[in-house]
Amino acid sequence: MKNQQKSKNCGHAESIAIYPGSFDPVTNGHIDIVERGLRLFDRIIVCVMCNAAKTTLFSIQERIEMIEKSFEKFPNVEADTYDGLLVDYGARRKARAILRGMRAVSDFEYEFQMAMMNRRLNRNIQTVFLMTGFRWIFTSSSIIKEAARFGGNVSDMVPPVVLQKLNEKFGHPRPL
Ligand code: PNS
Repeated sequence: MKNQQKSKNCGHAESIAIYPGSFDPVTNGHIDIVERGLRLFDRIIVCVMCNAAKTTLFSIQERIEMIEKSFEKFPNVEADTYDGLLVDYGARRKARAILRGMRAVSDFEYEFQMAMMNRRLNRNIQTVFLMTGFRWIFTSSSIIKEAARFGGNVSDMVPPVVLQKLNEKFGHPRPL
């Protein structure tokens, strides 16, 4: 479905949210946020972007492929990448919102700073925070990668395609 298309139910323009992040790799916590976001928006674009403060384990192409596979059952979720300002991408895709997950108070300062900067740069795109399910409150791509690197079993924290890729990078988890 193209982004300008009318939604089926009420004749309004499709409501689009960009869900930006490093997604290195996508986790069950990210999937939970998208599922919640789909209750608010017609379409969610999961956009792999550059965080200048991070070095990544997976290439952009690998990260997109993992996102596409993880959301293959969701026709209104799309994976993309953009090498530039998030708000510029949002404007180009006619998004009305930037979607971000909030796990704990510790996320707040970083998220608040980003949201304020994005609002300064483009006042037409609102940042919407959703709280992850309680199950995912302690997970992050970084902590999952660290556990996997040292042989920890992260099979219930990531989609199967990500588990396979982590096993390829680090070898299979050590037996319990
Ligand atoms: O998953 P992350 O690493 O917390 O995501 C951060 C990300 C990629 C969303 C952020 O670094 C970003 O928006 N990068 C794109 C460049 C940009 O627009 N920066 C200004 C907003 S602070």
